[in-house]
Amino acid sequence: TDKRIEDIKKIIRDYQDFPKPGVLFRDVFPVVKDPSCFKKLTDLLVEHINSLPEKVDVIVGLESRGFIFGPIIAQALNIGFVPVRKAGKLPGELIQVEYSLEYGKDKFEIQKDAVTEGQKVVVVDDLLATGGTMKAACQLMDKVKAKVLDCLVVIELTDLNGRQKVPYQMSSLIKY
Ligand code: PRP
Ligand code: HPA
Repeated sequence: TDKRIEDIKKIIRDYQDFPKPGVLFRDVFPVVKDPSCFKKLTDLLVEHINSLPEKVDVIVGLESRGFIFGPIIAQALNIGFVPVRKAGKLPGELIQVEYSLEYGKDKFEIQKDAVTEGQKVVVVDDLLATGGTMKAACQLMDKVKAKVLDCLVVIELTDLNGRQKVPYQMSSLIKY
């Protein structure tokens, strides 16, 4: 595999029993702290998106850590970024979906006109665990009638089988 992936993997930190007993938390922030490593990571994400058979119109990022990777990728691709946020944070007319995640429950929202019917999107987040978050984001994309070309995360926790819940193409750079 790509040497860059090995370099990134080396600096992802593990925390046992965070935020709850039994959860092994993978912390991606040390990658962001290291500029050459972060560059390798964003390059890999951009290369992945450029390898998709269709041209992407919009990058959709999921709160909170999808906001770290989404805009920098969108900028590199010269396309726009749109946030999906936890309930109560976005103004205007919204579309909402409820979801459950590895350690809790939440609601996601997107502005009604942020993505228009037929636009081709890639949904970006830092990590796939149970897949509840990505599934909810896909449901939002269905509601706005966007076409999801790919769901893209940096880290996939494969033991949790999250990708089984995701109704569209699911891609990850690093698997544990
Ligand atoms: C984490 C992570 C993903 C999601 C993955 O976010 O950043 O978005 O959980 O879990 P799942 O696949 O089981 O749904 P979290 O909900 O902790 O929110 P945060 O990014 O705002 O901290
Ligand atoms: N790391 C970071 N975020 C997460 C994790 C994890 O292991 N599991 C669910 N969200």
